[in-house]
Amino acid sequence: MSLIVMDTPIRYGAISRLLHWGMALLFAWQFTSATAHWLFPDTPFEDFFWGTHYPIGVLLLTLAVLRAIWALANVSRRPPSLSVMAKLGHFALYGLMIAVPTIALIRQYGSGRSLDVFGINLMTGFEGEEITWMTDLGGLLHGELGWTLLALIAGHIVMAILHRQLTHHDVLSRMIR
Ligand code: HEM
Ligand code: HEM
Repeated sequence: MSLIVMDTPIRYGAISRLLHWGMALLFAWQFTSATAHWLFPDTPFEDFFWGTHYPIGVLLLTLAVLRAIWALANVSRRPPSLSVMAKLGHFALYGLMIAVPTIALIRQYGSGRSLDVFGINLMTGFEGEEITWMTDLGGLLHGELGWTLLALIAGHIVMAILHRQLTHHDVLSRMIR
């Protein structure tokens, strides 16, 4: 089997598959750290995972933006959507993959605290009052939209399996082989 970089109408190419499955692993890690923070505060479980939530979240945002650009570059080549619902579902996944970490970064900026990820200083922080619309936005939406994304991912996985079982559209093979 030769390595096909770009997408084709039959299946996703190597870069799309690397992004899809690599990010799936990172999302599994990210929701583990979110769960640790929510349900197991002040336990070794939270101690281990929570420190990774910011850097992995920023990495996921970077990859999501690159993936959206890659999807646009391949839009005329990649396998056609099975339905309008599938197309809308994937679009919503992109929207949340970008909105959830962006809202967290806006909150972080507004809090006036500095932010370092992977040894890179992304925000220097500032003295004085918090920018409350920024911190409120994150407090209101980051966790809620984060769990909404998890629900959508769960639905996405169920639909991929159902399409394989119930219809003759083996969509999984487009993303696997
Ligand atoms: C795609 C990336 C991300 C996902 C899917 C995600 C998901 C989540 C979820 C589901 C929660 C709720 C946990 C709870 O209910 O207690 C949460 C909390 C939190 N996240 Fe993220 N997150 C991401 C990126 C980030 C980034 C980049 C930052 C920091 C810059 C961040 C900072 C926080 C903080 C401070 C909390 C605790 C406060 C709150 O619940 O809003 N997250 N995250
Ligand atoms: C066990 C986990 C997963 C399975 C079995 C799975 C399965 C699939 C399959 C079969 C496709 C191709 C659909 C088609 O061609 O119509 C696909 C595409 C897609 N999946 Fe997943 N997926 C999983 C996890 C995830 C996760 C965690 C995300 C992140 C939000 C995600 C986001 C997407 C998106 C946005 C597409 C559209 C193609 C693209 O732009 O990459 N998937 N998935």
